[in-house]
Amino acid sequence: MIPFAKPVVDKEELEAVSKVLESGMLAEGKVSRELEKEFAAFTGTKYATVTSNGTTALSTALEAMEIQPGDEVITSPFTFIASANTIAMIGAIPIFVDIDPRTYNIDPEEIENAITDKTKAIMPIHIFGMPSDMKRIMEIAETHDLLVLEDACQAHGATVDGKKVGSIGHVGAFSFYATKNMMSGEGGMITTDDEDIYERALMIKNHGRGKHGGYSHFRIGYNNRMMDIVSAIGRVQLKRLPKATEIRRKNAERYQRFLSEYDEIVPQYEPDGVKSVYHVYAPRLLSKRITRDEMITKLREKGVGARSVYALPCHKQGTYLNIQEWRWAKFVTYPDYSKLSLPHSEEVGDTHFDIPVHPSLTDADLDTIEDAIRSILS
Ligand SMILES: Cc1ncc(COP(=O)(O)O)c(C=O)c1O
Repeated sequence: MIPFAKPVVDKEELEAVSKVLESGMLAEGKVSRELEKEFAAFTGTKYATVTSNGTTALSTALEAMEIQPGDEVITSPFTFIASANTIAMIGAIPIFVDIDPRTYNIDPEEIENAITDKTKAIMPIHIFGMPSDMKRIMEIAETHDLLVLEDACQAHGATVDGKKVGSIGHVGAFSFYATKNMMSGEGGMITTDDEDIYERALMIKNHGRGKHGGYSHFRIGYNNRMMDIVSAIGRVQLKRLPKATEIRRKNAERYQRFLSEYDEIVPQYEPDGVKSVYHVYAPRLLSKRITRDEMITKLREKGVGARSVYALPCHKQGTYLNIQEWRWAKFVTYPDYSKLSLPHSEEVGDTHFDIPVHPSLTDADLDTIEDAIRSILS
């Protein structure tokens, strides 16, 4: 089976990890500081700080943005559930609005309709590596005095008009989970130009410690730190990221070219000025002859590790259908998510199928994938 994702680890990572192990300094320290500097330079932000994973990058960022219990954060339901959960985790209220069915990203016009006097922030998610409409989102945020946290967990290096995601909103959050475009096994990063948010994030991720470390603590915080062993892997991966992204884009172009012959297949749309990093290649299947699930089954029978990652958008997940059981429901009034109808999210959830696009695919793999789809649709 051609794997859906394949983390690349070679001698360089082994050597980098060995060096940290030999140094005896395993926890967050010097190596993480280097990774932060490099990642901030890569993304184009003044500040960057590592976190234990993408989830803690988002939750730490939301707290550092001073989002309070009961505040509303407008976001997309078409994502990995962690995006929304980080809002609910801190007692804030995820307000799901529909997506643009072409890009699968949050629809800015729907954001405007959802703003209330409780809205404090917008969390766009650059899904599958495709940047959201950041220009419109930042205009809306400015008009309504809202903060923007970019969930860039799937979009390391993606750009809008040449600007990297994670540097366009007020804050960005990244994941380095094992299958991500840049990975360290587990890991995360917060990026921002805002010094106050950065300083608060440093404290929140480290038990409210002051700048000078030691055992003086100034606010409730967590242990959301990232180990230097892991940051060492991240540094090697960051060096490789531009080349890996180029290969992902080339693979996607090949898919785009042959899939354009089929009216029944509609690829995720890349708007002008936007560059996706194709974390996932996920076209929609709009066919009367074959269902999406049949397509995936047939692809797998032909040795292609296909899947459908977000068949169920967040508002259809048990987590949100049962939100009254969450501890914050005693203090905060959640919408009745079961009454929510977001047709584009549901339709994309029902119709997208995902095929491998990672940089380790060989020409033979790409041929196999193309042949498989052609034969299924013939
Ligand atoms: C869009 C999105 N947000 C958040 C996360 C959470 O990141 P992590 O798994 O590193 O906690 C992920 C990871 O899968 C993600 O894809």
